[in-house]
Amino acid sequence: MRRPLEQERDSIFVAEGTKVVRRLLESSFAVVSVLLPEKHLEDFRPLLEARPENLSVYLADKQLLEQLIGFSMYQGVLAVGKIPRPAALDEIMGKSPKPLLLAAVDALTSAENLGALVRNCAAFGAQALIVGETSSSPFLRRSVRNSMGTILQLPVVELARLGQWRPRDFNSHTTAMTLVECLKEFRAAGIRCLAAHPHTDKRILSQADFTRDCCIVFGSEGDGISPAVLAACDEAVAIPMPPNVDSLNVGAAAAVFLYEVNRQRKAF
Ligand SMILES: C[S@@+](CC[C@H](N)C(=O)[O-])C[C@H]1O[C@@H](n2cnc3c(N)ncnc32)[C@H](O)[C@@H]1O
Repeated sequence: MRRPLEQERDSIFVAEGTKVVRRLLESSFAVVSVLLPEKHLEDFRPLLEARPENLSVYLADKQLLEQLIGFSMYQGVLAVGKIPRPAALDEIMGKSPKPLLLAAVDALTSAENLGALVRNCAAFGAQALIVGETSSSPFLRRSVRNSMGTILQLPVVELARLGQWRPRDFNSHTTAMTLVECLKEFRAAGIRCLAAHPHTDKRILSQADFTRDCCIVFGSEGDGISPAVLAACDEAVAIPMPPNVDSLNVGAAAAVFLYEVNRQRKAF
């Protein structure tokens, strides 16, 4: 719990809370272990017994757990899961129903915002999320929690973070390419790459065409989308806002964009 970088290196993640742990146990993700207070054991027993792997189940009171990890926990129910290998890009492009709806994030470092964005992607039918090499992992504990476990149902392609692990593809769940390279590949395959960018007066959301294959790129909390990634997109699109407001939270912006895609595609 105190060493998230080690979890990432070992391609494992921590799920917390009864709902998220339940979703993990119901999923096809590999589970390493579960830790829970004894009072929850009977509730979880059927799910634990149905798991295909030989997982470890630890019983501990919330109090002991809080002593061990050094901060307070809501329910004291935790599990460790394995981050799967990412789907190959050409598999996502080739096998997903058309028109494609992909999302990508550039330099998004807030685990909470990333989790909220994952939840929106799952809710609005995005077929995959590309996590740029300068973003944090959507498998960080707080991100998994904020996604409400929807990270378990959204294909994720994490691009290997530069300089963090060597060689770059050291951990098995990342793909060794940059977001700019990935967007180039999408464009070459006819997928329009649209930057969600508050500072453009060229195109507002309702004027953008989302009826064809597209990938929507979202930027970071501080600086938004980097110039290189912006230049790698076909165009920038803004949600109109009054001049005295800088921007929306990225999770809120993603919900608005993805709703508009669904509206144009008459998905409801
Ligand atoms: C908090 S905003 C970034 C603000 C940053 N100061 C900037 O200058 O772009 C985080 C991300 O949310 C998305 N976003 C927020 N407001 C938006 C808007 N009005 N139109 C389009 N995208 C928006 C963009 O992807 C943006 O990079």
